[in-house]
Amino acid sequence: MHEEIEDLKKAIESSPDNVYLRMLLVRKMRPFDQYLKEVERHLEIVMEQEKQNKEAREMLVEVFFRQGKNSAAIVLGEDLLDQTDVSPATKLILSKAYLAEQDLPKARDLYEEVLMINPSMTDQALDSAFRLSGVTDPFADDSDYFLEKPKITFKDVGGLDDIKREIDLKIIKPLEHADLYAAYGKKVGGGILLYGPPGCGKTFLARATAGEINAGFINVTLNDILDMWIGNSEKQLNAVFEEARDNAPCVLFFDEIDALGAKRSDLRQSAGKNVINQFLSELDGVEISNEGVLVIGATNVPWHLDAAFRRPGRFDRIIFVPPPDLDNRAEILRIKLADKPIDHIDYLKLAKLTPHYSGADLEAVIDIAIESVLEVAMQTGTPQPLTTDLLQKAITRHRSTTIDWFTTAKNYAVFANQSGQYDAISAYLKKHKDL
Ligand SMILES: Nc1ncnc2c1ncn2[C@@H]1O[C@H](COP(=O)(O)OP(=O)(O)O)[C@@H](O)[C@H]1O
Ligand SMILES: [Mg+2]
Repeated sequence: MHEEIEDLKKAIESSPDNVYLRMLLVRKMRPFDQYLKEVERHLEIVMEQEKQNKEAREMLVEVFFRQGKNSAAIVLGEDLLDQTDVSPATKLILSKAYLAEQDLPKARDLYEEVLMINPSMTDQALDSAFRLSGVTDPFADDSDYFLEKPKITFKDVGGLDDIKREIDLKIIKPLEHADLYAAYGKKVGGGILLYGPPGCGKTFLARATAGEINAGFINVTLNDILDMWIGNSEKQLNAVFEEARDNAPCVLFFDEIDALGAKRSDLRQSAGKNVINQFLSELDGVEISNEGVLVIGATNVPWHLDAAFRRPGRFDRIIFVPPPDLDNRAEILRIKLADKPIDHIDYLKLAKLTPHYSGADLEAVIDIAIESVLEVAMQTGTPQPLTTDLLQKAITRHRSTTIDWFTTAKNYAVFANQSGQYDAISAYLKKHKDL
């Protein structure tokens, strides 16, 4: 092997522009730590000759990482992620580099991504940092969804009282009293579909539902399934439902359920029908077997929803999740500020200043206020509590993000409401003439 390497080096000396030869050499040397420095130099030469040589760039990420040059690995790796499809192997290395640099969120995101693509690509350091693989039982050959045990409950969700009651009645009670329901021949199961502007608590509420009954929570973003398992989405959907059954009681949350819609005008359209049918039959399966799986779907774009989902017996209830009203905004602020150092806060005043703000918007406002407090604390050395005044200033620096959504929704409510599916939005718009 090492002889071969020496021969290749000589060959390259006499034809230094031959990228093919140089890459051959690099591939031979790469496994050996003693050559790392040299490999790095060769790869850099290749990249001078072929700036976009993907193999060379991916290798260089690894070579940097193995030499402990984490930030170089990260800079190059991020650049690659922006531009091309990066192999899972390189993503794994990049996520290890993030871990080494203590950038845990990025390390985790990327590692999750890698495991979604290939659950066998586990890494000990990343596993023990995040305890990802192993938490869920990778029951099926090629899937690994992440089971959570949410700590939040309904009391962490501000407002949305009607919806909480609905969820209690439609999915929690039937689960807790399955025998009773069966005795009266009452159908248990089906699911609830939440729709509305972003940041108003759809995901949060689904998670809190699981926390409320101490159940598991699996959060599946449908676009991820469709993107990552092109041609194999049906099998993945089945795997997700299986995982939920294995971990019952369990809330199975499907975000971006519109991704299944046949109305989408992108390339996935042709695959659409099969996936929808698979989904619907899984949903029916949950109903029949009643195995303690609660299905909640969510979408920000109800107008892309496939009509099949609206048929009776599919999603039992399709519920509009509106932005918080005045009292609810005050309540959300109170909840979110409960564990922070605060002065006396005039919640009602702040709520009045934030019409149409979503829960997420209110959270953003608090973040901005905290940043300003920290700045002052850093300068003066004395920590300060949050005040009404500071929050008020923060409000001026963050606009509501629900308004754009209503601009679009209004068009559907006015022009496409033949079957009444936008009645809830219409009613909301009637009450809020300024939207
Ligand atoms: N009603 C609410 N009560 C408390 N927090 C909320 C509420 N609505 C939104 N939030 C906060 O905003 C964040 C984003 O909400 P999320 O549930 O992800 O919105 P959606 O799924 O509707 O887009 C949540 O993590 C939560 O902290
Ligand atoms: Mg969400």
